[in-house]
Amino acid sequence: MTTMPDPDRRLYRPQAEVVFNQSLPGGHGWMRLAVGELAAKAQPGHFVHLQCAPSLTLPRPFSLLDADPDNGTVDLFYRIVGQGTAFMAAWRAGERTTLLMPAGRCFTTPPPGADILLIAGGAGMAPLHFLARRLGMPFTFLWGIETELPMALPFACQLASRAAFPDRFQGFVTELAARHLTRNTYLYACGPHPMLQAVSRLGHPGQLSLEERMACGFGGCAACVAPIRDPATTSGWQYRKICTDGPVFAIDEVAWEHYAHPH
Ligand SMILES: Cc1cc2nc3c(=O)[nH]c(=O)nc-3n(C[C@H](O)[C@H](O)[C@H](O)COP(=O)(O)OP(=O)(O)OC[C@H]3O[C@@H](n4cnc5c(N)ncnc54)[C@H](O)[C@@H]3O)c2cc1C
Ligand code: FES
Repeated sequence: MTTMPDPDRRLYRPQAEVVFNQSLPGGHGWMRLAVGELAAKAQPGHFVHLQCAPSLTLPRPFSLLDADPDNGTVDLFYRIVGQGTAFMAAWRAGERTTLLMPAGRCFTTPPPGADILLIAGGAGMAPLHFLARRLGMPFTFLWGIETELPMALPFACQLASRAAFPDRFQGFVTELAARHLTRNTYLYACGPHPMLQAVSRLGHPGQLSLEERMACGFGGCAACVAPIRDPATTSGWQYRKICTDGPVFAIDEVAWEHYAHPH
């Protein structure tokens, strides 16, 4: 993996064309977009800020599920939750849109000799899938998913659900994660905030990819801030922008106790 430090912080606004857009179980979708040579700049943890419809002023952020520099494509895995994702779900091959990419700071490499544990919640699977594909070293991948399995992953993956499903651990994915911890565990996680808080309580180092509602996607509006620890400030923390300072942060950087809204 070649992600330390972020290789190139420049943002581009290419036209992209839908290669395919597949409907998946559980209200999910898998979309491949042709973005040309920009696919080579995509790293695990980067997101795209995607224009979902001319009628929607604000683009929507989506982590990259994968990127293929040889074919000039990037993949997204999305859950249909509102207007923007409903528009996306209706796109067919050949549809054109614009996006900002590669946005945000990507994951960095784990310490040597670490036992790598990836913990995904719902659509938070996307950036960890890309990371797993690029890691080039052994890892354990856990995915907490409450619906029918949206897609089979191209590597071994253990599933967790709170409801009873055959072949799944029943409970929170973080409870399953607790069974895999070793002295050398290094964590990567992405999912809903309560899951990420539980990941933080596992007491191991690692990195989280945070999600917040976004507006501009390039650091111009402060719509996307999260409380991040900063020993250089008198309070010990300050708001940082997810879109440019994140979405990836070290686990112990996130000041959950200072979030303005309850999680
Ligand atoms: C860096 C980043 C990466 C993301 N990656 C993915 C991804 O790979 N796949 C995916 O399915 N989703 C991802 N999201 C969340 C995705 O951006 C939202 O689901 C999407 O913007 C919703 O748009 P909408 O117009 O369909 O819904 P809206 O009508 O805007 O909202 C519908 C519902 O979704 C909630 N919502 C909206 N935005 C977010 C958000 N950012 N985080 C959590 N809840 C939200 C709203 O509160 C509301 O309940 C990511 C978000 C960020 C910030
Ligand atoms: S979305 Fe505007 S600063 Fe992050």
